Amino acid sequence: MSIQDQKTKLNIGLFGFGVVGEGLYKVLEQTPTLNAQIKKVCIKHPEKTRNAPHELFTTDASLLLNDNSINVIVELIDDADAAYHIVTNALMHGKAVVSANKKMIAEHIEELIALQIEYNVPFLYEAACCASIPVIRNLEEYYDNDLLQGISGIVNGSTNYILTKIFEEKISFEKALLQAQEAGFAESNPALDIEGTDAVNKLSILLTHAYGIITPPLALVHTGINTLHEADAVFAKEKGYEIKLVAQAHKLKNGKIAAFVAPQFVNDSSQLSTVKNEYNGVIIESSLADKQFFYGKGAGGFPTASAVLSDLSALRYNYRYEYKKLKYQIPSALNSDFYLKVCFSFKSLTQVPHKRFSRILEWSSNETRCHITGIIHFSELANSNWWKQPGISFILYPDSIIDDFELTTLKNQSVYLSEEVFA
Ligand code: HSE
Repeated sequence: MSIQDQKTKLNIGLFGFGVVGEGLYKVLEQTPTLNAQIKKVCIKHPEKTRNAPHELFTTDASLLLNDNSINVIVELIDDADAAYHIVTNALMHGKAVVSANKKMIAEHIEELIALQIEYNVPFLYEAACCASIPVIRNLEEYYDNDLLQGISGIVNGSTNYILTKIFEEKISFEKALLQAQEAGFAESNPALDIEGTDAVNKLSILLTHAYGIITPPLALVHTGINTLHEADAVFAKEKGYEIKLVAQAHKLKNGKIAAFVAPQFVNDSSQLSTVKNEYNGVIIESSLADKQFFYGKGAGGFPTASAVLSDLSALRYNYRYEYKKLKYQIPSALNSDFYLKVCFSFKSLTQVPHKRFSRILEWSSNETRCHITGIIHFSELANSNWWKQPGISFILYPDSIIDDFELTTLKNQSVYLSEEVFA
C-alpha cells in the first residue's frame, strides 16, 4: 500500500538517536494525526543509555533496510560517508528517505537526484539547511522564476551563537564554542562549523534549489570564524558593526552567480543583525519583491526535528523536489569576474600582499593588529590560499560585491601606500 494512503502507517526506520533523532522520537509521540511510528532505530553505540525502549534499537542496518514493512528511512547520523551508504541503499530499496545530512547531500547531490528518478522515490531534506526554516521548499516552489537576485544568510547556528556571545557577553571564543557543543548545536567535529564548511555545504544545496547550480561544496570560496582575531571585534565595534558568518549567492550583471561564505560586517540596518545565538536568517532578494527575510532556529533537536516532521507529512501527499531550475530552466553558472570590498587583518604590515589589491581604501595599525580595507578581485581569493594562512583574518563589508567594476570609480577614494610602508 502506498504511503500516500492516509490509512497506511508510516513505518519509520530511523538511523541515529542523537539530539535530532531523540527530538523526532519525542515529537512523533505527540503527533498522532501523522499516523507514523518509529519501528526500529539503528545506532552505533548500543552501550549508551537511551530515553526509549531497549527493543527499539539495533546496530544492524540491514534489519531496517531489508524490512519490507518499513516504508520510510529517516537518516539523522553525523557520519556523512555512512549516511551516503544508508541513503543510497534505501533509495535503491524503493523506500522514501528523509535526511538532515547536509555534508552528504552537498557532496552527492547529482547522484542523489539521479537515484530519485531511477527508483521513483522521494528524498526530502529540508532540515539540512537552516533547520526549522523552510528555505529549500520556498526556493523550489515560490521563487521558481528568473527574478531571484540573491540569497544571503546566516545558515550555521553554532558560529552565530559563538559570535553573539563574543559581541554581546564578551565571552571568549573557546568558552562560547564549548557552550554551543553542550547545547547540541555544533557538529561532532566542530571544525566543520567554525571553518565555514557546514555553511558552504548548505550554500551548495541552496544553489541547486535557487539557481540549478551543482557544485562540489568545497570548490566554493569559503572561510569561517576561526581565523578572526579579538582585535577584529574591537575594529568592528568602532565602526558600528557586528560580525556574522554569511553564506551568499548573488546574480551578477552578466546573469551569472557569485557565491561564497565568509565573515561579514553587519550593521543595525540589516535584518541579519537581528539574528542572535543559534538562530538562522536568510534574506531572499527578488527583482520585483525586493527583500524578504526568513528567520528561525537553525540548530538544536526540536527545531531540526520539526523540519524532519514536515518532510514526513509532505511524503503523505507525494511531495518531491522537482529541481525546477535544473529541469525547466537553463541552469545558471558560477562566475568569478567581480570585485569585493574587504577588510583583512594581519599581525603586521609586512604580511600584507598589498599588490593583490586593486584599490586600498583605508588602513590602520597598532601594536596588536593591522587592518586594511580595499577592493580585491574575487579570483585572488578563488585561485589562491594566501588569505587563509594563520595570522590573517578576512571580513567582508556589507553589500561587498562590486560588479561591473570601473577602475576609475574608486580612484579618488583610494589611499596611496608607498612600498616603504610594507617594507
Ligand atoms: N552544526 C549545525 C549548526 C547544526 O550549528 O548550524 C545544524 O545544521
